[in-house]
Amino acid sequence: MSFCFNDANVAKIEALKKRYPSAQALSLPCLWMVQYQEGYISLDAIDVIAEVTDTPAMEIYRVATFYTMFHLEPTTQKRVLVCKTLSCKLCGSDAVLEQLKKHDVLVEHVECLGSCGTAPVMQIDDVNYENLTPTKVDAIVEGLR
Ligand code: FES
Repeated sequence: MSFCFNDANVAKIEALKKRYPSAQALSLPCLWMVQYQEGYISLDAIDVIAEVTDTPAMEIYRVATFYTMFHLEPTTQKRVLVCKTLSCKLCGSDAVLEQLKKHDVLVEHVECLGSCGTAPVMQIDDVNYENLTPTKVDAIVEGLR
């Protein structure tokens, strides 16, 4: 296995083990740690999480592939999550998607980002961008460079 948790994450895992009822309950926190540490979740990392959580690797893989917020492939492009749920759809997420096609970003359609009152919404690096218009999309994406 070529993946290893860094020292900070090893310490977090040890601390969390005391708070969680079972090692398996650490699966989601471990997936987040891997993603923040590496930018994506490799199969090697899934094997390490399986070992740490005493859970079959297939279970970890199932969890990682169920949630759209986990990325299983590396990319050099910026990931942009665009909400495709009703409020955003009604408020113009299609125009947001069209505008994003003009930029070199990796667009992923996701379910509600929890900010329906400020639709349409997209998320980049865990930051929500709200009340989007095509003009705002250009400014935000160009500001990432
Ligand atoms: S419907 Fe888009 S943030 Fe909730």
